[in-house]
Formats: sequence, C-alpha cells, structure tokens
Amino acid sequence: MSHLFTPLTLRGVTFSNRIFMAPMCQYSAKDGLPNDWHRTHYATRAIGGVGSIILEATAVTPEGRITAHDLGLWNDQQTEAMKPLVDNMVANGVVPGIQLAHAGRKGDSDVPWRGGKGMFSSDWKLLAPSAIAFDENHETPVEMSSDDMDAVEQAFVDAAKRSLQAGFKVVELHMAHGYLLHQFLSPLSNQRSDEYGGSLENRMRYPLRITKAVREVWPDDLPLFVRLSATDWAEDAWDLEQSIVLCRELKAMGVDLIDVSSGGLVGNVKIPLHPGYQVPFADEIKRQVEMPTGSVGLITEVIQAEQIVATGQADSIFLARELLRNPYWPQLAAKQLGADISWPPQYERAPF
Ligand SMILES: Cc1cc2nc3c(=O)[nH]c(=O)nc-3n(C[C@H](O)[C@H](O)[C@H](O)COP(=O)(O)O)c2cc1C
Repeated sequence: MSHLFTPLTLRGVTFSNRIFMAPMCQYSAKDGLPNDWHRTHYATRAIGGVGSIILEATAVTPEGRITAHDLGLWNDQQTEAMKPLVDNMVANGVVPGIQLAHAGRKGDSDVPWRGGKGMFSSDWKLLAPSAIAFDENHETPVEMSSDDMDAVEQAFVDAAKRSLQAGFKVVELHMAHGYLLHQFLSPLSNQRSDEYGGSLENRMRYPLRITKAVREVWPDDLPLFVRLSATDWAEDAWDLEQSIVLCRELKAMGVDLIDVSSGGLVGNVKIPLHPGYQVPFADEIKRQVEMPTGSVGLITEVIQAEQIVATGQADSIFLARELLRNPYWPQLAAKQLGADISWPPQYERAPF
C-alpha cells in the first residue's frame, strides 16, 4: 500500500492523496483577477491527479501584491472570478486551497522574468514592520502604524471570508519567503521597539494575531495551513529553534498543517541545495511539535516522495517546479507505486 496515495483527513476534509501542488505565482493577472492562463494552468494540474492545489500567493490588499500582476482577493469581482477555478478543482476530485499573502517590503516588484527588481511606483506604499529595504533594488518601506496593522489584519480576515465564499476548503497563510508575516518574525527585518519587536514573543505577536483572527472566521470543519520558512539561512536571524516555538503556538491556535519551506528573507545567503534539502525541517517540526507537516523543495522523484511520507518525515509533499514540467506527475507516481487513481476517460488510450 503506497503511503503517498493513502488518504489524509484534516478536520472535515479528506485529501485523496498526499501530493499537493505548492503555491506558485503566475504573475499573469490584471487587477488581481484570474484569466484564461490561470484557468488552463490549474485545470491541467487538477486533471493530473494531485490531492490538493494551493493556489498561488493571493494578495489581501492591492499594495500587498509582490507585483502588479498577482492574484488578489480584496473585492467581490475577484471572489466571483475564483469560483470557476475552484469548481474545476472539485470536479476533478482535488481539494481546493488558496495561499493568502501580503508581500510587505517585497511588494511593487517587477515580474521575475524581467529581473524582479523594485518598480519604485509613486502610488504604491510599501508596508513593513520596520523601514528596512529588502535590498538596494527595492524601495524602503514605511514602518507599519497600529492603524496599518489593524487594516492588514482585517484584510486577511476579509480575504479568508471571500475564500470561503469562492468555495476553497483550505486557507494557507503565507508566513514564509520574506513576505510581510515572515518580516515580523525575523530580527533582521523587524527592529521595532514596541510590543511587536525585540523578543521572540514580540516578533511572533503579529503573525499570531493574524492567525487567530483568520481561524476565528475560517469554519471549524476546514483546515488552516501555514507556510513557514524554517530558517533565514543567516546569522542572528530566524531559525528552526524559533520556528518550533512558533509552531507550538500555531498548533494551539488551531493550525492543522505546517508547510515547511525556508529562506527568502534576505538575498545573498548560501543555501545548501540538494534533493529534499528542506525535509529535515518538516521532520523536526513534526516530531517536536507533534503536528502534521508538509515538505517542499527539490522533491522530484516518486520513490523520494514516497519515502518522505512512509518514514513519517512529513504527512504530505508539496510539489512546485516538477508539476510545471509534468502536470501528470501524480499519474506517474501512481503507476510506479501501484496505486489506482482516476484518469479521464478521454485520456485512457494514453495510460502511464
Ligand atoms: C514560478 C514559481 C512561483 C512561486 N510562487 C510561490 C508562491 O506564490 N508562494 C509560495 O509560498 N511559494 C512560491 N514558490 C515556491 C514554491 O512553492 C516552492 O516552495 C519552491 O519552488 C521549491 O519547491 P520545488 O523544488 O518543488 O520547485 C514559487 C516557485 C516558483 C517556481
């Protein structure tokens, strides 16, 4: 019996397998709205047989976008436009999820394929815990006031409600990769002198406030995920030890799974990349905090993925680039592991 294809139940939601599509920004939206590109891109991965799709980082406010081309969920039109994407996932047996995000000081960037540098738009106010730029190619953000913090909290809550209206069954809060909530966690980007900066307890305060507020409006029978960077890969920065303390708090607040990534807060750090290089973080959090985790990062091989779940290092795997190369990877995995998953009748003449 394949472990990768053993269903996973979190609260009232059962995932038919443990291969989840990791959130991947397409930077292809206008006014935060999904279009034909998104519909085709997600439908293809849904047909491919993943257990869940976590839609790309979707901004909770316009200035919380990484680029002007990110998806957003701050108005009714966007909520309506998400519904066909969700319906398609459900029709293909995929649990629909969405990553809610605020880019903080990494907002107002150009798309990665044009270099990803800051655009320095005059009408884009970058918010962050402290007025420290991401790098010399990005604008210096404004230190968030208490009103700014209230407004962003409300935006996360509203976006969670809109996610529910659109039909999503999983919300994932983006606390990783150097975006706003991660900026609060790391002492490198958070140098506030109020109760939101300084000690670990203070740095965790705002991300936990957002989590609590979202959990309150996200239904009890639906799972809440958090994506975390387990380390900044830098000195005197965010690390695994602090991540474990944070995850204990997240678990107590009703977070159901930690999607464990790393890095993104500062550039120019050495990351020891190798297959499955982030698996030990998911493993450590799972064992020390005793909560479900997902592992992501350079997972490409079927046997590798099966072993991560079989050995209990993580409860699920999140695939990103491998699914861009091959949306039908779950079918390949099912074939290799002897699992029986559905394949559209239209494609039956091309079995794996
Ligand atoms: C095109 C692209 C877009 C991405 N966008 C997001 C995103 O929206 N949110 C996020 O948390 N990670 C994002 N990531 C990171 C992936 O989710 C994943 O963590 C990373 O690519 C490592 O996994 P992989 O080796 O399977 O690609 C993105 C990665 C790629 C390649």
